[in-house]
Amino acid sequence: VLEEKDAVEAAQCPYAATKAQSLDAIPGPTNWPLVGSLFQLLRKGGLTRQHEALIDYHKQFGKIFRMKLGSFESVHIGAPCLLEALYRKEGSYPQRLDIKPWKAYRDMRNEAYGLLILEGEDWQRVRSAFQHKLMKPTEVVKLDGKINQVMVDFIDRIGHINHNGKIEDLYFELNKWSFETICLVLYDKRFGLLQEEVNEEAMNFITAVKTMMSTFGMMMVTPVELHKSLNTKTWQDHTAAWDSIFSTAKVYIDKKLKGNASRAPDDLIGDILHQSRLSKKELYAAITELQIGGVETTANSMLWFIFNLSRSPRAQKKLLQEIRDVVPPDQDPCGEHIKSMPYLKACLKESLRLSPSIPFTGRTLDKDTVLGDYAIPKGTVLMINSHALSSSEEYFDDGKQFKPERWLRKSSTINPFAYVPFGIGKRMCIGRRLAELQLQLAMCWLIRDYEIVPTDDEPLEGFWFPIENCQLPLSRDEDHV
Ligand code: HEM
Repeated sequence: VLEEKDAVEAAQCPYAATKAQSLDAIPGPTNWPLVGSLFQLLRKGGLTRQHEALIDYHKQFGKIFRMKLGSFESVHIGAPCLLEALYRKEGSYPQRLDIKPWKAYRDMRNEAYGLLILEGEDWQRVRSAFQHKLMKPTEVVKLDGKINQVMVDFIDRIGHINHNGKIEDLYFELNKWSFETICLVLYDKRFGLLQEEVNEEAMNFITAVKTMMSTFGMMMVTPVELHKSLNTKTWQDHTAAWDSIFSTAKVYIDKKLKGNASRAPDDLIGDILHQSRLSKKELYAAITELQIGGVETTANSMLWFIFNLSRSPRAQKKLLQEIRDVVPPDQDPCGEHIKSMPYLKACLKESLRLSPSIPFTGRTLDKDTVLGDYAIPKGTVLMINSHALSSSEEYFDDGKQFKPERWLRKSSTINPFAYVPFGIGKRMCIGRRLAELQLQLAMCWLIRDYEIVPTDDEPLEGFWFPIENCQLPLSRDEDHV
């Protein structure tokens, strides 16, 4: 979280406006009629390489540029001072991009919106109901038992599926691990995804989430109303997937709502369900969207955490030493241990800096705002290019290298606005604390039992979407056990 004191320490903005120019003066790639810069982007590798294209554009046009893709126009910012300016001018209810396909489904079925799509006062009301429990480290640390329950199964699973030290589809396994963890936290329900035989209900649930996620992208770039009126296959699949997600989620939320007056200390969600003044409909939507927000992001971050450590044996050795120093051999790593593990925290920060699972986030300006040299009108979509910021040599010495030590220096010169893998301000990721704890604990378990070694040292290109058929070998190091 960007603390006020960090913000004060942040560098002075050299782009502070003296005389603001209009939106039209912002430079950017050629804007062709109808298509905008779509073909140029496709030539640069398409949507999966978008984060790299954005870095190129920042190099070419500077800290702020403007781009149109089809009818979607946005202004991109990639300088800490511009981000700081945005943060300081943020209103009470910051707004991200509209996810129209999700809204269309909810409107059709008369379901509520959750945090990912809510706006205005309604967003704030729902956010406040979850904020205290989910953003407070002393509350989130209580979830270590649940995280560990799933970790026991994950480590066991790795033992079974590891062939000659290799795991064929690590990303799939990590998705099941994060899905299982978030479901246990939210619904108090084990789905058994890490078992050899996965039951039908669990398979249907995970497939529905996958289908929902894979069908909404198309309806973000083509009018969802058209899909709906033509009842396209994309729309049918999308709505069927949501129907399935909601019907499963409701069963378990209802169970928790009916449940016990005396709740376990780690039942944060139970507390929220019982204590908030949200309606049942609002709770269904909010919890479901927490689940959606917590699966791929965490799995992807873990994949990259594993990858970055595999390429840094020195950091891995240092981390193993810290784990051995803090966690007694007869105990499982827990939240209390993590508090005394600065190197582990630095490793995670560094991994999220080099390989953030979400390379940008957006804001729709709710008022006219001056950013740097430009006056940007209300309604403009701003893209905060967090990956461009955190991979820049300008803001991080030796920025392409994995160097956890940079986060441990006493007199750090790192600008806090250059590192925003969880977003920024009032609308930043509400699952941040949970994700961090989950990733830190998981890495403790892994490093304690395994040495992670790379199959090659070729540079990896692109990372926004996970590498297909990722093979990250995990070899049991007898020394470690
Ligand atoms: C929002 C990243 C894990 C739930 C976001 C945003 C980012 C992000 C970049 C947008 C923030 C902004 O616009 O300023 C991540 C990463 C994760 C992670 C990198 C894992 C490493 C989670 C988890 C949950 C979650 C575990 C659920 C418990 C959400 C929700 C929002 C959000 C509900 C919308 C918040 C709002 O608008 O009020 N996340 N996230 N995320 N995330 Fe996460």
